[in-house]
Amino acid sequence: EKGGYDHFMLKEIYEQPRAIKDTYRGRLLAEQGLVKMSGIEQNMEKFLNANRIIIVACGTSWHAGLVAEYIFEDLARIPVEVEYASEFRYRNPVITDKDILIAISQSGETADTLAAIKLAKERGAFVFGVCNVVGSSIARETDAGAYTHAGPEIGVASTKAFTTQITVLTLMALRLAKAKGVFSETKYREHLTELATIPSKVEIALQSNPLIEIIADVYKDSTNCLYLGRGYNFPVALEGALKLKEISYIHAEGYPAAEMKHGPIALIDEHMPVFVIATKKGHYEKVVSNIQEIKSRKGKIIAIVTEGDEQVRDLADHVIEVPETLESLTPLLTTIPLQLISYHIAVMRGCNVDQPRNLAKSVTVE
Ligand code: F6R
Repeated sequence: EKGGYDHFMLKEIYEQPRAIKDTYRGRLLAEQGLVKMSGIEQNMEKFLNANRIIIVACGTSWHAGLVAEYIFEDLARIPVEVEYASEFRYRNPVITDKDILIAISQSGETADTLAAIKLAKERGAFVFGVCNVVGSSIARETDAGAYTHAGPEIGVASTKAFTTQITVLTLMALRLAKAKGVFSETKYREHLTELATIPSKVEIALQSNPLIEIIADVYKDSTNCLYLGRGYNFPVALEGALKLKEISYIHAEGYPAAEMKHGPIALIDEHMPVFVIATKKGHYEKVVSNIQEIKSRKGKIIAIVTEGDEQVRDLADHVIEVPETLESLTPLLTTIPLQLISYHIAVMRGCNVDQPRNLAKSVTVE
């Protein structure tokens, strides 16, 4: 049932090219320049008249929501707020019938996310669900939605759910950008065509697995790690740190790279591995100077870079390449090596990768 893989998590990491393709199949018609999503078409007026979108989720799904904040604001020019469902529901939020709530949940059963939906509905918001499990409580409770087609995710650590959530949210943002007319036809077409290449680029990113295993062996005994990224890749840094924490029990923190100098830089010494997402687009030069700051304090740098990068290669202790893509799509690629590094470190530490201690696949209690 693990299809020849040692763990479900590894199988699910490798399923991502297919899962992403299954998620955009029938929705992304790149050649015709179309994005078709019935949940959006049927509610287009609501989306076009919305004052803002509020995204609620927990854990990894919340990280997908943070990526979506960049995507929706950048591509579709719709204001977005992203909230932990557990905080949102208990802080008497200001919600009106001009708000759209998007709830993201792999299982569709997360208690806090479900409660946040109920609250938003009571206050008149239109609620849209992005779930993986068909017929789940959240899928039933929402007014409309779009499923991710990741297939069953068995490993407790979420992997393919994350990349397929980002895929759905990207499609939504592109559809809305088109409807709002905020995107030139050329840019729109470029995004559609590029999204269609992502599965094969994920495939290429997965080919770094042997190198990642070697890097994992170097850092497996670390007690702390930092993950840094900027822009679209700041949430990827958070997700990388969460993956490491939950399956290897190593303390890790994700930060926006520019926040380093406001505190975390004090942690850096020769024992601190720092994973930096430094792809070519997206504040590249700024990230390079962040890397220099870490290097001058003797931190160990493992950088996720764009294929062919030379500048970071000269500075970093290790580089892992991912193919080049549009900035808004980089999270779908930069996430892959971070999933693999956590996986290998956890295996090397003898951890139960698929069922980490203290964790359940879906959190149905608040
Ligand atoms: C992390 C993880 C959790 C879930 C969170 C939300 O790998 O699995 O953080 O992402 O519990 O779960 P869903 O998406 O089912 O609502």
